[in-house]
Amino acid sequence: EHAPESLPFDETLTTLRSVLPEKLRQPHVGIVCGSGLHTLAAAFREVVEVPYSTLAGFGKSTVPGHKSSLAFGLVGPGEGVPVVAMLGRLHPYEGHKLSTVVYPIRVMARLGVRNLIITNAAGALNPNIDVGTIVVIQDHIAFPNLTGMNPLLGPQIDSKYPRFLPLSSAYSVTLRRFAFLAAHKLQLGLNALTEGVYAWVSGPTYETPAEGRMLRNSGADVVGMSTIPEVVAGKEEGLDVLVLSLVTNKVVIPDQYRSIKEEVEAELAGNPVIRQDEAQVSHEEVLLIGKQKAEVMKGLVEKIVELIAAS
Ligand code: 6GU
Repeated sequence: EHAPESLPFDETLTTLRSVLPEKLRQPHVGIVCGSGLHTLAAAFREVVEVPYSTLAGFGKSTVPGHKSSLAFGLVGPGEGVPVVAMLGRLHPYEGHKLSTVVYPIRVMARLGVRNLIITNAAGALNPNIDVGTIVVIQDHIAFPNLTGMNPLLGPQIDSKYPRFLPLSSAYSVTLRRFAFLAAHKLQLGLNALTEGVYAWVSGPTYETPAEGRMLRNSGADVVGMSTIPEVVAGKEEGLDVLVLSLVTNKVVIPDQYRSIKEEVEAELAGNPVIRQDEAQVSHEEVLLIGKQKAEVMKGLVEKIVELIAAS
């Protein structure tokens, strides 16, 4: 079920070559724009947008806040560095196969991309991480990968790839350094960013309090429903990977459950307990924070691309 059918690389690459001017055909950096972050491409010059619908093998993103196109353009001073961005990513919870979710990453690699910058919106499990913080991901726990939902399950698409891909250093130290150096150069201060571990869950349900507690106890700092399939495929393709998670909400983990038994007891004793509804995470909240922080994320990604180009 996860195995890629024959993937239409030739067809996709032929289409891209026919619509792109020479100087955009070999992007050095690939960027994946998360929820509410598709304005990242507004920093590109000479942009050519190619809708997923015109590309063989591409799915369509159905999530509000996600477009469905590849944006090619130039970033940085002088001639600029050619880059490609996914405006809108594909998630397994939309019904896309994992092989479809990661297909654009494999296409990027075949275009010449060597560095992949992935952004996402995430919930904070670590109580010290506030909403609006950008987390430089240093490691992940991929719960679906551990239980039979891994983008590399099935026949290998290229016999040159290792059958058992090591992920002990999946997150490029060089690129993580560039993230902090970029924050410094933009005068955001190093504290605008923090570092942490990303827990991947399949969604589309948000975690229950017990699941939130389990995720936190497992050692994760943030939780989200995306990114890791792209990281895994990117590593298989030999790319250097950087993940930036924008914290859009805090996962509230009550240290004590509301006791219905005690409430009924109090009510029967004539002292009813008056309670307010508890706050709930919403996709609107996720999009709003994304919008507010999109400029910061855009500046960072731009500066990181410049640092990559200069390295
Ligand atoms: Cl999976 N959970 C929470 N609480 N917030 C999120 C999320 C998950 N993904 C993005 N924001």
